Amino acid sequence: MLLTTHLTESTEEAAAFIKQGQLVAFPTETVYGLGGNALSESSVENIYRAKERPIDNPLIVHIHSLEQINTLVKAITPPAKKLIDAFFPGPITLILERAEHVPKIVSAGLSSIAIRMPANDTALRFLQACDLPVAAPSANRSGRPSPTTWQDVYTDLKGRISCILKGEQSQVGLESTVIDCRYDQPRILRAGGIPVEKIQEITSLSVVSNGQLEGEHSSPSPGVKHKHYAPKAIVHIVNSPDEVDPSFTSAFIGLNPYPFPEKLGLYQKCLDLTDYAYQLFHFFRRCDRAGISDIYCESTSRKQLGNALMDRITRASER
Ligand code: TXA
Ligand code: MG
Repeated sequence: MLLTTHLTESTEEAAAFIKQGQLVAFPTETVYGLGGNALSESSVENIYRAKERPIDNPLIVHIHSLEQINTLVKAITPPAKKLIDAFFPGPITLILERAEHVPKIVSAGLSSIAIRMPANDTALRFLQACDLPVAAPSANRSGRPSPTTWQDVYTDLKGRISCILKGEQSQVGLESTVIDCRYDQPRILRAGGIPVEKIQEITSLSVVSNGQLEGEHSSPSPGVKHKHYAPKAIVHIVNSPDEVDPSFTSAFIGLNPYPFPEKLGLYQKCLDLTDYAYQLFHFFRRCDRAGISDIYCESTSRKQLGNALMDRITRASER
């Protein structure tokens, strides 16, 4: 059944849909999320359906206050406490043991639960107005790049969700860092907006960083085994702009300038890693709209935000 997708800038209006059990896409500082009441099994089922998400890929529960965490988890472990103090609200997601009353389907049947407090004014006002924990994966169709603008959400989910809360382009541009903090030594399951170096520096926790995401068969975070972030074009990773094969159906994004941008269909020179992260998914979607067949992404070091960036680029290049 095709729904009417209502567009609004009112957090109250958007929250009313959530309270009625409907789905709302909303802005966050990382990427747009597709939200539903985390305590309603049918709302959560509809999230999986709307984005055609595999049912074994658990969702993140979004909150606006620290008190809400206690109602969702069995216990806040000492490392989780440190991470909350240092980084909430922010682009980080904590894995803890799920409280019994939270529907299993939120976590795809796992005994754990993922919790995040976004650092975005509109998101926080929306979550306050909902006054419920909101389960939300990224608001893309499964397999597509995560949306960083409401227009990208509209392209993917129009007719499938009740409402889009319009906001700015997401400031970070890449998803949150997912970190399992059930044990003394926290473990990064997905590189993201907060680099491991920063976590170690600020909390002095010793963190297990996979550096790279888990492979198909050993993944503790089910989502990382599924194909992600892919534009329609073929993504090539190049060490420098010299390796680009120029054509009007080719595009380049990177930190160094390409000397003949007029020979390309689309071109994006980024100022630094932060800007590269901000632009990447948006650029992928611009390329799709422009009918680009080959996207050349310049590789960067895997230090700091470069780790999450290279993770996303590598996964987009896998077919
Ligand atoms: O920045 C973000 O994290 C965005 C915004 C909307 O908050 N959300 C997002 O959600 O990226 P999603 O569903 O696209 O990715 C969530 C990731 C997946 O890799 C999933 O497997 C992992 O988090 N995850 C969720 N719950 C988990 C759990 N209980 N244990 C392990 N991994 C979990
Ligand atoms: Mg996603």
